[in-house]
Amino acid sequence: MTTILVTGGAGFIGSHLCKKLIEQDKVVICLDNFNNYYSPLRKIENIKPFLKKGNFFLQVVDVTNKTALEEVFKKHKLDKVVHLAARAGVRPSIEQPLLYQEANVQGTVNLLELSKKYGIKNFIFGSSSSVYGENKKIPFSENDNVDYPISPYAASKKACELFCFTYSHLTNLNIVCLRFFTVYGPQGRPDMAPYLFTEQIQRGKELIRYGDGTTRRDYTYIDDIIQGILAALEKNFKFEIINLGNSQTVELNYFINVIEGLTGKKAKIKEMPEQSGDVPITYADISKAKKLLGYNPKTKIEEGMEKFIRWYKENHSNI
Ligand SMILES: NC(=O)c1ccc[n+]([C@@H]2O[C@H](COP(=O)([O-])OP(=O)(O)OC[C@H]3O[C@@H](n4cnc5c(N)ncnc54)[C@H](O)[C@@H]3O)[C@@H](O)[C@H]2O)c1
Repeated sequence: MTTILVTGGAGFIGSHLCKKLIEQDKVVICLDNFNNYYSPLRKIENIKPFLKKGNFFLQVVDVTNKTALEEVFKKHKLDKVVHLAARAGVRPSIEQPLLYQEANVQGTVNLLELSKKYGIKNFIFGSSSSVYGENKKIPFSENDNVDYPISPYAASKKACELFCFTYSHLTNLNIVCLRFFTVYGPQGRPDMAPYLFTEQIQRGKELIRYGDGTTRRDYTYIDDIIQGILAALEKNFKFEIINLGNSQTVELNYFINVIEGLTGKKAKIKEMPEQSGDVPITYADISKAKKLLGYNPKTKIEEGMEKFIRWYKENHSNI
């Protein structure tokens, strides 16, 4: 039986991953501090169905608390770690850089240090397309220079990747850093555009669009991301950085049109100046993921947003 620690396991991506790992009969240790970046009630809802399962264990622990974290490593004989716990918003990181440094960088080094000490075989780190900053060359390739992150969030992810490399070099850890590109789907984060825009359009509220709507994002459906994470968990690469995107960019204005079509409601758009920290385009070169992981994203934005909006309508109650 393989025992896998999923940090941030009650969050959006983490809870989808826990679900799949439980189905695969892995022993899943879900670790989360249930912080209030968005409602902790949503996170509880995410993992509630798993609490009855015999192969699911919840640990309410903060990754910045190394002593408490070590208790988890002592208690469970862990084989693999998927580290997804992080402060995840780009814009709030500009207001609270120290918080992002602590949760993301210190938290990651704590996990790497304990993974070394307790002989973990595989360590997957949840990195981000934001490390590409304002790179002009598209699509973004893992070989591109990523020395110019334009938000503390992006800088923290880049710093974590560097620590991951160092630990892979100095220890027996096998490490894969997966750069996720704008992930969306059921249980999606309420601070991200797919959720925010759906809510604003559905409720007839004003939709704030930063810039003229020509920015482009490589939206990646959650099931495709999970397929990539599961594949990475089965590999023993010494150290790799791999993009997980959809490799299809969607213009913001088109994205709003898709939601309008699916909800049958017109957006009331209020235009605001572009925000600092936001990048004009994200676009993943996924040839490495295809080659090394057999990664094959299948979900088109119209189909993925249909699934998201169905979930939203069934669940958006009061939390
Ligand atoms: N969703 C995306 O589009 C996206 C894109 C690129 C990278 N990522 C990365 O993927 C990971 C998961 O993102 P998500 O969208 O599921 O976000 P999320 O906020 O839903 O999940 C993160 C989880 O980590 C937990 N957490 C945060 N700080 C913690 C701490 N100090 N100790 C313990 N738990 C803590 C939170 O409570 C939350 O449940 C993050 O590392 C994020 O940076 C996400």
